[in-house]
Amino acid sequence: MADRRPDDMVRITTKELADAFIEEQIKELREQIGDKKVLLALSGGVDSSVVAAMLIKAVGDQLTCVHVNHGLLRKGEPEQVIEVFRNQMKANLVYVDATDRFLDKLADVTDPETKRKIIGGEFIDVFAEEARKLDNIEFLAQGTIWPDILESEKGIKAHHNAGGLPEDMKFELVEPVKILFKDEVRVVGEALGLPSNMVYRQPFPGPGLGVRCPGAITRDRLEAVRESDAILREEFAKNGLEGKVWQYFTVVPDFKSTGIKNGERSFDWCVIIRAVNTTDAMTAEVENIPFELMQHLVSRITSEVKGVNRVLYDFTPKPSATIEYE
Ligand code: XMP
Repeated sequence: MADRRPDDMVRITTKELADAFIEEQIKELREQIGDKKVLLALSGGVDSSVVAAMLIKAVGDQLTCVHVNHGLLRKGEPEQVIEVFRNQMKANLVYVDATDRFLDKLADVTDPETKRKIIGGEFIDVFAEEARKLDNIEFLAQGTIWPDILESEKGIKAHHNAGGLPEDMKFELVEPVKILFKDEVRVVGEALGLPSNMVYRQPFPGPGLGVRCPGAITRDRLEAVRESDAILREEFAKNGLEGKVWQYFTVVPDFKSTGIKNGERSFDWCVIIRAVNTTDAMTAEVENIPFELMQHLVSRITSEVKGVNRVLYDFTPKPSATIEYE
């Protein structure tokens, strides 16, 4: 396939354009891969999901997907990956629950960059271990997209996931969406029949909920982040804010405050709600959440999430704050 996006390439905005792109890619993928085997790290994010769906169409069970659950995913995500890819699309899916391994390594680690390095490094180790168990893999598929290539050329971002694999693991890369912009990947994903909540998912950082559990991650505080995030997403969907607000999530900082629960003094965490709009994530404005919805969120979170007695709303735009907390 073309290594670079042709200057005159028409933006893929319709099902017809997406179908034509898919058909052409499938032909090229079959030519490139032949009867060899392909490996893919499937996070469940838009890009890797679209690559998986495309490869399943092109080469079926010559593809093996590895889904590493690092324990920092949102509620329901690993289950959805298994349901969509293993049960519905009949993919070869290796599911690795590495939660304990990641959380044990992260115990007592407070520095944000060290946390990121541990998560990234451990991910490569787990993925490489799984890859070694498989025979005759010659290709590694990646969900590289066009902005990743532009950013890595400008030196902003190192995008090559394969870059971290051990020296002796050499694969030829398969990157079927590398000339597409993000909005085009979504249109292609819909045309491939992926569920719309997967295709139109809000951005989610690689280190996952780990950056929303500031300081040293503990299992109980992480659970409070996951449960409060699930409530926020459910209420945004019910109230027509899903797809309208660019990114929204919860953070549970590492401090406690006093409160009253069931008539008794409590000393518990607070949940911070963050909801922002942006076009390029370089700057961001805070969403004006209706007051009544806010009250409902406070009531649900304080009654349903264990260890929480207080809810705060972060009104800070970027700058001065970043979108995430770490
Ligand atoms: P910040 O916090 O820098 O975030 O304002 C801007 C956007 O980038 C996402 N983000 C990340 N994505 N790995 C990622 O893949 C990361 O380490 C990371 N940190 C932030 C963030 O969610 C927001 O959309």
